Amino acid sequence: MLNKIDEIIHEIESFNSTIAEEIDQFRIKLMSKKGAITQLFGEFKSVPVEQKKEFGQRLNELKNKAADKLAQLSESIASKDKEYSGLDLSLPGDPIQLGSRHPVSIIKNEIVDIFARLGFSIAEGPEIEDDWHNFTALNFPEEHPARDMQDTFFIEKKPDVLLRTHTSSVQVREMKNSQPPIRKIFPGRVFRNEAISARAHCIFHQVEGLYIDENVSFADLKQTLLYFAQEMFDAETQIRLRPSFFPFTEPSAEVDVSCMLCGGKGCNVCKYTGWLEILGCGMVDPNVLENCGIDSEKYTGFAFGMGIERIAMLKYGVKDLRLYFENDVRFLKQFSAAY
Ligand code: PHE
Repeated sequence: MLNKIDEIIHEIESFNSTIAEEIDQFRIKLMSKKGAITQLFGEFKSVPVEQKKEFGQRLNELKNKAADKLAQLSESIASKDKEYSGLDLSLPGDPIQLGSRHPVSIIKNEIVDIFARLGFSIAEGPEIEDDWHNFTALNFPEEHPARDMQDTFFIEKKPDVLLRTHTSSVQVREMKNSQPPIRKIFPGRVFRNEAISARAHCIFHQVEGLYIDENVSFADLKQTLLYFAQEMFDAETQIRLRPSFFPFTEPSAEVDVSCMLCGGKGCNVCKYTGWLEILGCGMVDPNVLENCGIDSEKYTGFAFGMGIERIAMLKYGVKDLRLYFENDVRFLKQFSAAY
C-alpha cells in the first residue's frame, strides 16, 4: 500500500496542465468519493496496528501534496484568465494628485490685484536686456557698482547683453513706448549674481510700479504704499519711509511696514525694531523721464519696487528663500490660494 502512495505522489508531481477541465478530471481522479486518495483513506482501517502510524503519516502527506498541487494549478489558471481579459475595469483608478499654486504666484497675484484696484495695469518685458534699458536709461553712471560683474549676469559684452537685474527695465520700455498718464505695475523674474543662501538667491521675482502724470507728488506715493501695505498685511499696518538712494529716483526712500507679528512692539522677526523693510521707492528722476522721451517740466511720477519672495516670507513666515526654488510638494501644498 505504501507503494501505491508513492505511485500517486509521483503522478501528482509530474502532472501539469493549464486546461481547467483536465485539472478538474485530475481532482476527481484523486479526491472524489471514488478517487484514489479517498479509497486509500478507506483502506486505513484494515492496516495492521503497528503500520498505522507510518501509513497515516504518508497518507496525510499525500493528501496535502494533492491539495497544494490543485491549488497551485487553479491559481495559475486564474492569473492566466486575468491576462486574457487584459484590463480590469472594476479596479479603482490611480488618484490624480492636485497641484497647488506656488506661494510666489499667490503673492504676485495678490499684489497685482491690490494695485489693480488703484487703476494699475500689468506690463511685461524681456528677461534678457541690453545695458541701455537695464542701466543707462535709468541714470546709472558709467562706473556704478551695480554694473559690475558682481551683480549682473552678462551674456555678451560690448555691446552688453545681460539678464535684467530688476524690472525697472520694463518701466523704461513703457515710458519709451507711451506718453503719460502711465499707471503700470511690472511683475517678473530678475537675476543677480549672488551666492545662494537662506536670504539671497540669484533668481527672484519683483513687482515694480510706475505712475506718471501731471502733478504726481510724493504724498501720492506715500498714500499708495500705505494702501498697499494695509491691504497686503492688515488694516492696522503702518508704514515708515527712510531716505535712501537709487540712481533713477530723487528723492528716494526705503519703506518699512510695522511688524505684523508683534504689531510693532518688537519680536525676533523684526529684530525688536517693530519694523520690516519691504520695498524701495522714490520720485522718478527727471533725467530718466528725459532719457525716455517724456517732458520732465510737464510730468512727474513715482516708482517703487519690491521682492515678491520677501513679501511672501513675511506673510507666511518662511525662513529660507531656497525653499521657493526646490519645488518640494510638501512645502508647496501648504499655501492655499485665494488667488
Ligand atoms: N529697481 C529697484 C531694485 O531692484 C527697486 C526700485 C524700483 C526702487 C523703483 C525705487 C524705485 O532694487
